[in-house]
Amino acid sequence: MIRAVITGSGSALPAQCVTNDDLAQRVDTTDEWIQERTGIRQRYIAGEGETTSSLATEAARKALEDAGIDASEIGLIILATATPDHTFPATATQVQANLGCRGGVAFDVHAVCSGFLYALGTADSLLRTGMAKKALVIGAETFSRILDWEDRTTCVLFGDGAGAVVLEAKDVEEDGPGILATRLHADGEHRELLYVDGGPSTTGEVGKLRMKGREVFRHAVVNLADVLREVLEDASVEAADVDWVVPHQANARILDATARKLNLAPEKVIVTVDQHANTSAASVPLALDVAKKDGRIKPGDLVMFEAMGGGFTWGASLARM
Ligand code: UT7
Repeated sequence: MIRAVITGSGSALPAQCVTNDDLAQRVDTTDEWIQERTGIRQRYIAGEGETTSSLATEAARKALEDAGIDASEIGLIILATATPDHTFPATATQVQANLGCRGGVAFDVHAVCSGFLYALGTADSLLRTGMAKKALVIGAETFSRILDWEDRTTCVLFGDGAGAVVLEAKDVEEDGPGILATRLHADGEHRELLYVDGGPSTTGEVGKLRMKGREVFRHAVVNLADVLREVLEDASVEAADVDWVVPHQANARILDATARKLNLAPEKVIVTVDQHANTSAASVPLALDVAKKDGRIKPGDLVMFEAMGGGFTWGASLARM
């Protein structure tokens, strides 16, 4: 059977690391509050010349190198971001130009923190229908550029970065590698709980991120547990058989609560929120790359990806590496 197989990963972070103590000098907060409520210790913030496309390009180059393929072989680039370089063209086309591959499909997916899951699900479908043979799926963000740096309830939570995977359509056995199941959801009813208060067609300005964190938290735990159960059922897999969960890194408490609801051992959950904070669409591929590079995630492992974000949008995907 034809499956989309993850054959490489890469990631990129801005040069500047900002600790909680650094932030406490700008807004009324403390390292203790941030760590206790979120698990975050530091985040990386893009400086001059660092953009969503530059971070995405670096992550993509590393993923190509990891997969051992040339950029010219890529027929599909899907870039998940809520912080594109420009309103248009799609940042994916800038990355395509930077990589020097031409003529294939390149577009952005906008599903905020669930963007990587949406992009992965879309690429999986397109590869299995034969539209392309090799794809780059990237999550890249510069949320620092849409934060209200006077609002302590949001500005301490986010960071910038990018992660990428190479997906290849391969003819595999039933128990072979590849994406086994994906479920995606959206519910526009709750859009006002997490949104940006501007945009090209409304204010004509980029706007700033606004969030009612406590309510988002409540929805996140319920929706993520539900979608994880759906994907396990689709793939006929028990939660206990999952080797690793690579979740969206919004808050360490959400990761703990979701794992508890599904009886998943906490040591199977890859946690990078302490290092990167919430990097929105970049967080899942960034965490995957960290855990692949440090040797925890190995070929043959069953890995669950999950995310929930603005919209609301949420989703999960199960893959054998
Ligand atoms: O990626 C998309 C999905 N996003 C999420 O999943 C985020 C989900 N939400 C969260 O992670 C948490 O709700 C937060 C980390 C945002 C907030 O944690 P919380 O435990 O829900 O705190 P809270 O909003 O209920 O605020 C508790 C107190 C408030 O003070 P009062 O009203 O109790 O006096 C806040 O004003 O903490 C105060 N507070 C802060 N204090 C110090 C809020 N932000 C800060 C801060 N430093 N940075």
